[in-house]
Amino acid sequence: MRTLDDLDVKGRRVLVRADLNVPLDGETITDDGRIRASVPTISTLLERGAKVVVCAHLGRPKGKVNPEYSLAPVAARLGELLGQDVAFASDVVGDSARSTVEALQDGQVALLENLRYEPGEESKDDAVRGEFAARLAGLAELYVGDGFGAVHRRHASVYDVPRLLPHAAGGLVVAEVEVLRKLTESPERPYVVVLGGAKVSDKLGVIANLLTKVDRLLVGGGMAYTFLKAQGHEVGRSLLQEDQLDQVRGFLDEATRRGVELVLPVDVLAAVTFAADAEHDVVEATAIPADREGLDIGPKTRELFAAKLADARTVFWNGPMGVFEFEAFSGGTRAVAEALIAGDAFTVVGGGDSAAAVRKLELSEDGFSHISTGGGASLEYLEGKTLPGLAALED
Ligand code: 3PG
Ligand code: MG
Repeated sequence: MRTLDDLDVKGRRVLVRADLNVPLDGETITDDGRIRASVPTISTLLERGAKVVVCAHLGRPKGKVNPEYSLAPVAARLGELLGQDVAFASDVVGDSARSTVEALQDGQVALLENLRYEPGEESKDDAVRGEFAARLAGLAELYVGDGFGAVHRRHASVYDVPRLLPHAAGGLVVAEVEVLRKLTESPERPYVVVLGGAKVSDKLGVIANLLTKVDRLLVGGGMAYTFLKAQGHEVGRSLLQEDQLDQVRGFLDEATRRGVELVLPVDVLAAVTFAADAEHDVVEATAIPADREGLDIGPKTRELFAAKLADARTVFWNGPMGVFEFEAFSGGTRAVAEALIAGDAFTVVGGGDSAAAVRKLELSEDGFSHISTGGGASLEYLEGKTLPGLAALED
């Protein structure tokens, strides 16, 4: 993969595909991690005298203009972090984009409006996507792919534009790929993976692949209840994916056959309802009352998981252990994070909700070897899939 050092950017317009898909509460950014992670590449290009045109998506507006998904608040925050003005174009490839880009001087930066306002960005039709990609590419002379969190999407800005312009990978993509390569090629052992989050169906591919690679797999969060049910336990009103039970039984068998230790919760916080202040008790994972739902792993499980992490040399963690957004049910996620911080393994937090949890729970980000900016992207990488955005940068 070519890197920034392989491009001569001085005085040239450089289109940077970043992942600035941050959570918003109205117009307030509740976690600016992805914006901060995008700053080094943009700064480097600006210092080298480029005219930088940043493009990115926010949420899923599905090809329509929708002010709720405007990148305007992101432009403001990016400007604060860069310490310089970010010109904001009110469209993606229209009049505003063209005039904003034309006005840039060397060392200045602009952000285009949400790529996903344009149906061409995500179109499955190569011609439609290609037509939009050509307009986007027309705004610049060079392309830098740095939106790691979106490299698993076959979208115009990720996959098609790098075919139209001389291109390189940005520093964030290079760093993310280096870490994932280390996990896939030569993990020091014991290699332990902790998976959580709501849906086991999102993680089928990665579980299948990891069962051939890891020494231990710890499963918590909403998806653990489908595993418990597959073992024959009742899970009350906990999250359950009935249609995944056969798959999960297959994983349990496969783990046994391969000698992979698959560790499930032994106790849970069982609540009367899904709410921040829900009445709840600690119950055995094998005895969840019919009218209760598990919203976090219990204290014995926290100890068990910590013990299973203590001697690990490599850890990948994706997905919270409970409903960490509710203080009362954040203890399991916190315990796993603290166990990772306390150990001396190479620790990778796999983006998405687990990265958000680290920041929301005010844990030290320095306590981990790497916090990925891409949840889906890092999972698909570990699943062994070809990521369109990386393939396009390699060509
Ligand atoms: C993410 O948040 O996972 C990335 O920004 C990609 O967004 P998407 O899942 O909506 O494609
Ligand atoms: Mg996603």
